[in-house]
Amino acid sequence: MKLLFVCLGNICRSPSAEAVYRERFQSDELFLDSAGTGSWHIGKAPDSRMLATLARHGVDASDLRARQFSAGDFDQFDLIVAMDAQNQRDIEQLRPAGATTPVHCLLEYSRVYDGDVIDPYYEGEDGFELCFAQVESGCEGLREHLKR
Ligand code: 4NP
Repeated sequence: MKLLFVCLGNICRSPSAEAVYRERFQSDELFLDSAGTGSWHIGKAPDSRMLATLARHGVDASDLRARQFSAGDFDQFDLIVAMDAQNQRDIEQLRPAGATTPVHCLLEYSRVYDGDVIDPYYEGEDGFELCFAQVESGCEGLREHLKR
């Protein structure tokens, strides 16, 4: 199973999802990655506030580096998971003719939250905590979904 998480900058939400999923559910059959629809932060580590929030919850994402989503990712992955509806639309704009990889929003899988994962980039501390809780809940639900 090849799973790609996508947000806008690839420095807050999608690296968090990648790191939470890796921490909780890594296995030999699973290939994980994350990307951003935007290009501003290519090559950068996750936002220091996001890393601090993750660390408080025992998750290390410090090795991850941002990259930009590209149309070629449709060929490489079995499932693309967007953090919000705008990400999902931006990803769909790049879908090559004939590409069948589904693109879903993370919180479709959550039992607690729905809609968009909050973009914490312009938020205070509370935004990062809520983002983490949403990502964690979505990843747990996604894991249950993929086990079926
Ligand atoms: P992310 O958050 O999409 O969760 O990584 C953002 C990071 C940076 C920007 C926007 C959102 N930005 O505009 O630079």
